[in-house]
Amino acid sequence: MDIYKIKGGKKLNGEVSISGSKNAALPIIAASLLADGETTLKNIPALVDIKTICKGIEYLGAKTDFDQNTNTLKIKTLSLKNNTIPYDLVKTMRALYYIMGPMLARTGETDTSLPGGCAIGERPIDIHLAGFESLGAKIQIEHGYVKARAKKLKGTKFVMRKVSVGATANIMMASVLANGETVLENCAMEPDIMDLGRFLIQMGAEIQGLGTETIHIIGVKKLNPVTYTIMPDRIEAGTYLIAGAVTRGTVKIKNVIPDHIGALMHNLSDMGFLLSQGDDWVKIEPSKKLKGAIIKTMPYPGFPTDLQAPIMALFTTIPGISVIIETIFEKRYTHVPELRRMGADITLEGDVSIIKGIKKLSSATVMMSDLRAGAALVLAALAAENTTEIRRIYHSDRGYEKLSEKLSSMGADIKRVEGGKG
Ligand code: EPZ
Repeated sequence: MDIYKIKGGKKLNGEVSISGSKNAALPIIAASLLADGETTLKNIPALVDIKTICKGIEYLGAKTDFDQNTNTLKIKTLSLKNNTIPYDLVKTMRALYYIMGPMLARTGETDTSLPGGCAIGERPIDIHLAGFESLGAKIQIEHGYVKARAKKLKGTKFVMRKVSVGATANIMMASVLANGETVLENCAMEPDIMDLGRFLIQMGAEIQGLGTETIHIIGVKKLNPVTYTIMPDRIEAGTYLIAGAVTRGTVKIKNVIPDHIGALMHNLSDMGFLLSQGDDWVKIEPSKKLKGAIIKTMPYPGFPTDLQAPIMALFTTIPGISVIIETIFEKRYTHVPELRRMGADITLEGDVSIIKGIKKLSSATVMMSDLRAGAALVLAALAAENTTEIRRIYHSDRGYEKLSEKLSSMGADIKRVEGGKG
């Protein structure tokens, strides 16, 4: 197993280009199943999670061809021969549930392994399933599989009991080919949903209200394969902005939609960092006067839970007290014990963490427990004294394309080496 060795204490300086969004690409790849023919997706990041969803649609009979040099994915969906997504695949990535909505719409049946618990919380999919039922599907859970059947889905009015990115995307994908009108209430407003919606509209879907709490969909008879470019990854962008902040360097992030990281920029600016922006870039510079902040994770446009661990790494280095309230996932603090091993002063009380900034983090051997917790350790290591060894870095391969190359290009001393103990 590979590990990262990071010699901290170097200010990052330079520019970094942001890759395509993982969390937009995943449902969009699944949505390509809705059309017969060849879909071309550009700006697809080369990530393990992308490989996994491609494996999922290949299981059903689709063909995929990914060119890493151009980040272009071609998907052929002419003959689907199977309706099952097996446990062995779903246990590696729960987002394979995105295949359920399009399969129900296109073929009227899917047997998909029900995802189990997750490192960051229980993460049930009851809202996805209730939405499918409301569209007329029969749902049974048997032997660990969700068996969903529908002769033809019918438009419906469905109110989500909680804002969910995955459920909004899945139910939207299921309803675009349904008979009649669907109205979805209490929808997620994340840019990822808007990117998926734009893709579906380009395919011929009739959707209104993207980016609001209420989405209206008029079912159409058929969708066509298209060529589409995935939007930039706002969480990757936020992570590199924080990398600039935590090393007190000057970092320009290119190929980003600044509005998508508005909540983070607002907080960094309140803390004293100097931020500037253009149409597709954001720059961060340090200042002498820095102070802590209070953040509460919330659905978009609030502060994203996916940047909670990264910003905590930054808070550990900021004079004074900072506070985080995690409201989205109930176990999303697995980075705390690892940051403490690097000397961080963090008190945890339920979903609230209180962070007292210290002068300098110290190096340690630490372990990633999930993607964003892993990013927090990389950020902490960039700011720490001496060399930190980070294990289980396969977690970061799921969501950060060319992480060590991008950080090195801005002056970080980071090496990916073989042979860690895991
Ligand atoms: C998406 O997960 C992202 N994953 C997550 O990113 C992200 O943290 C999360 O949205 C929140 O922004 C992908 O896009 C693949 P939710 P998702 O449904 O869709 C509860 C990363 O690191 N809920 O919006 O699974 C749920 O338990 C990942 O890139 C139900 O109770 O998140 C949570 O408390 C991790 N029942 C809340 O809703 C349901 O049926 C929000 O979850 C669905 C969700």
